[in-house]
Amino acid sequence: MQAWPHVIPPRGRVAYVNGHYVRHGQAQAHIEDRGLQFGDAVYEVCAVEDGCLRDEEEHLDRLERSTREIELAMPMSRAALKLVFRELVRRNRVKTGLLYLQVTRGAAHRDHPIPANGPRPTLILTAHSLDPNAIAKRRAEGISVITRPDERWARRDIKTTQLLPNLIAKTAERRAGAYEAVLVDKEGTVTEGSSTNTWIVDKEGRLITRALSNDILPGVTRRVILEAAADAQLAVIERGFAPEEAYAAREAFISSATGIYPVIAIDGHRVGEGAPGPVTRRVQELYASKSAMRAGAADRPR
Ligand code: PDD
Repeated sequence: MQAWPHVIPPRGRVAYVNGHYVRHGQAQAHIEDRGLQFGDAVYEVCAVEDGCLRDEEEHLDRLERSTREIELAMPMSRAALKLVFRELVRRNRVKTGLLYLQVTRGAAHRDHPIPANGPRPTLILTAHSLDPNAIAKRRAEGISVITRPDERWARRDIKTTQLLPNLIAKTAERRAGAYEAVLVDKEGTVTEGSSTNTWIVDKEGRLITRALSNDILPGVTRRVILEAAADAQLAVIERGFAPEEAYAAREAFISSATGIYPVIAIDGHRVGEGAPGPVTRRVQELYASKSAMRAGAADRPR
């Protein structure tokens, strides 16, 4: 089989497609795959640190939820998926990086409704390394963000691959020299970032983040931060906030599988001292120890 003629440089050496480990440059899906035709697919992104998958159980919980919400069967059991995750990370020799998983409804002749006797779902996984120094720098020094109108659909709680509004916002952010686009709904309230959840810290040192609903993705990192904050008796208020409240906040940060990053400027307004603050640092530490503890537990042989 010939590699794609226009192929992008491989991200990792080996991909997983429907039961097979294949060379990344030769991995293929069918042109009638409903993921390609309709965006009829859901996905997960899981961080790899020290060769271990972070928050693996929570990512699997959310994958189960996303598949359920779109009436898609899980492609295999959780136990089998975990074996594939480990094998793919091992084969790509990832120490610090990301594991990407996508489940589509599979290949069928193009017809919009969900097929009654659906095809076999397509399962695709890739794993690639990231530069640990770049991640550490962002964690330590913080990032700038811009705000953009939230132009997405009404079920943002489902982690679907239909990401056009997100990537339009991301393009604007990159052109503005920022790292994230914070999305604002019609009422003038921040929903979340284009690929992150958003947080501010008020004058009393409390964490504020939008409550879960159909308006935002239930972030895994968000969930673990909330658990860690509860353990540490750090006060949290789950409510929306306007960009103006964020400009005036003591601190701000974003969270996703790719990291917890201090936000030091929003739309050119300096946040707090214009440098990562103590509460954000504490959240980074609490998250790191909680998630490392569980990564160790998950990787111990049973
Ligand atoms: N994005 N909100 C949106 C819209 C997201 O796309 C993501 C994740 C998050 C944070 O969720 P989590 O903590 O589970 O990573 C919030 C991933 C990283 C991506 O699309 O690449």
